[in-house]
Amino acid sequence: MARISAGIACSHVPALGVASDLGKQDEPYWKPIFDGFEWSRKWETEHLPDVVILVYNDHASAMDMRVIPTFAIGCGEQFGICDEGWGPRPVPDVEGHPDLAWHIAQSLILDEFDMTIVNELDVDHGLTVPLSMIFGKPEKWPIKVIPLAVNVVTYPPPSGNRCWALGEAIRRAVESFPEDLNVQIWGTGGMSHQIQGPRAGLINAEWDQHFLDRLSGSSDELRRIPHIEYLRETGSEGIEMVMWLIMRGALGHAAREIHRFYHVPASNTAVGHIILEPEQ
Ligand SMILES: [Fe+2]
Repeated sequence: MARISAGIACSHVPALGVASDLGKQDEPYWKPIFDGFEWSRKWETEHLPDVVILVYNDHASAMDMRVIPTFAIGCGEQFGICDEGWGPRPVPDVEGHPDLAWHIAQSLILDEFDMTIVNELDVDHGLTVPLSMIFGKPEKWPIKVIPLAVNVVTYPPPSGNRCWALGEAIRRAVESFPEDLNVQIWGTGGMSHQIQGPRAGLINAEWDQHFLDRLSGSSDELRRIPHIEYLRETGSEGIEMVMWLIMRGALGHAAREIHRFYHVPASNTAVGHIILEPEQ
């Protein structure tokens, strides 16, 4: 049986990808952030899964106003890297796991989550930056990836409660896959950030830390945070944190925090990162 062994949440600040690609990790501005992921890189090497279900959002790179799936799952063999305006990032293509992805798609749809199935998909910084932060700059990513894209760009994004419930359904789907696979689920994006308007640069570290606190344990109160609270407290892009709730929901009733990192600022946003394990 396949199982979800851990959840990782990680900001996907595009500038971190640029810093990695240009070899700026040791520059004073970036070093504390890359150092903050060192423990995680080592931990991940020791707990390397077969597959990562990587929850992210596309930033009008592969998807745009023509089609706006609330939840989309990548079922292809391979995913290319988006050109986000300055050429694709110089990182490896992403290898999928079509058998597990199709199984999850079937299970979720029959479980009443209306997933959009995507077979051809290029992935942007939302997916590749977390890979870079955890795996550095390999020739080939050491895991297979099932992209799970969430609309958090065009109103209305899904509610936190719906995201948490989707995570619970993903857990059921993975656990009904007969092959013995070690699966991790990653939630990306966040934490507090606003990149536009008069409140640009807004950071609410206290709120972010309280959110991180509530990811572990058995409370599910995070699923009831309304959109307006994310907007008011964490800025217009803080809504990306609902994607973390898919990860948390997939870990089951209770989760244990095993690592946390938080840093301000990175390109005027807050970088948040946490590793959680399900408590049996
Ligand atoms: Fe984003």
